[in-house]
Amino acid sequence: MTGSAAVVVASNRGPVSYALDDDGRLTARRGGGGLISGLSAVGEAVWVCAALTEGDRRAAREAGGRLGLIEDSSTAVRMLTIDTTTFLRAYNGVANSTLWFVHHLLFDTPSVPLFDERWEREWAAYVDYNAAFADALAEEAAPGGRVLVQDYHLTLAPAMLRFRRPDLRIGHFSHTPWAPPEYFRVLPDDVATAVLEGVLGADTAGFLTERWAEAFLDCCADVLGAQVDREDRTVTHRGRTTRIGVHPLGVDGAELRDRAAQPDVQSRVATLREQVDGRLAIVRVDRTELSKNIVRGLEAYRLLLRRYPTWLGRVVHVAFAYPSRHDLPVYREYTAAVQRVAHEIDDEFGTPGWQPLLLHVQDDLPRSLAAYCLADVLLVNPLRDGMNLVAKEGPVLSERGCALVLSREAGAAEELGRDALLVNPFDLVETADALHRALSMTQEQRREVSDRLAAAATALPPQQWLAAQLDDLA
Ligand code: G6P
Repeated sequence: MTGSAAVVVASNRGPVSYALDDDGRLTARRGGGGLISGLSAVGEAVWVCAALTEGDRRAAREAGGRLGLIEDSSTAVRMLTIDTTTFLRAYNGVANSTLWFVHHLLFDTPSVPLFDERWEREWAAYVDYNAAFADALAEEAAPGGRVLVQDYHLTLAPAMLRFRRPDLRIGHFSHTPWAPPEYFRVLPDDVATAVLEGVLGADTAGFLTERWAEAFLDCCADVLGAQVDREDRTVTHRGRTTRIGVHPLGVDGAELRDRAAQPDVQSRVATLREQVDGRLAIVRVDRTELSKNIVRGLEAYRLLLRRYPTWLGRVVHVAFAYPSRHDLPVYREYTAAVQRVAHEIDDEFGTPGWQPLLLHVQDDLPRSLAAYCLADVLLVNPLRDGMNLVAKEGPVLSERGCALVLSREAGAAEELGRDALLVNPFDLVETADALHRALSMTQEQRREVSDRLAAAATALPPQQWLAAQLDDLA
């Protein structure tokens, strides 16, 4: 049975999520992100995703899987109610604890990973989870339709879908970095092969930067012995050829500015402005993921205050570290470490008239946008990051103009590196010195770099980014 959608998107987290209130009523909340903005420019589409919350499961059951259109677009949503154990093993065990760690080089290798029998169960669940997506995609896509599969949760789905529906044009897109082969080979051999062959089931494999695309090509050559043509950017393996694309996602400047002009953001700007009280603001906004390197960022701020006492009382660090993947103990411990270092900084430097650090760990999008508006310096220091949109959003919204201290390991460094202060994210001294240089710039200098950063950040807005991927599949 084939479906009727000319364009189908697949990702683990969908564009909408449902919460159950105390009276058992469902409320829908629209998510953010490039894919959602990008889809607004596409005609009719279906988005296949997993039900993640209890509310999602109930909404999906009541609607028989297919939910209504996302506001302001012609996209319908189909939520898959995958068996909870299967889902958690696939999402936590494989996607978040293994593939995420591989691509971000996060393992503490003397002790992890351990590929044991428990892992075998998790991997089997990941295979089932990918198969559930492949089944749904095969049902939804019209003959000859185009299917865009997203990210490390769904690396097997492209090959599985091709097997079910050879008529489709299939794209896979990785929003994370890709690991170099010597690190990718941490994975059990059959798993490493399955992941690469899964992605190569697609007609196109997309990446955010040249660097991640190159790493993928290296893995295909090294692990699979596939035929890699670097000039043409193709991989040929088992008689099929996959084209590699590089699509650096940017931000939609107009949409972002409109959002920031809304009253909920502006009231938070007023509150933050009072708290910053005329001082310079160093802003960071992250989900609390291990790869975001928040603890070293705070340590670098501490070092700045120690090495350059001229800033005592003249600067405030506004640091937002929102919860992420709290099912995983290492993530919870990381949040605790962030809070611990923040307290130490307050203890060491705070005075009755000056709070050196404002840390928030509860999610609040309007407050993040408000912080960008007030930023003089933006600190983005991930250990490794697919792109990092904070580095792009901050300069667009900063009212006075902000300097950007940016990790050279963030994908965004490829486009923003010329106008940012690039740092090695492991080097606290270099990061503290870069913060000092950013604070020492004149306001005009910060304004100038900020304008250039904003221009680079908005060069490829989500609508064009997605359209280019669909064109590649045409
Ligand atoms: C980050 C990554 C994305 C990924 C997402 C999943 O934002 O950049 O590549 O899809 O995390 O997050 P989740 O909260 O759904 O686990």
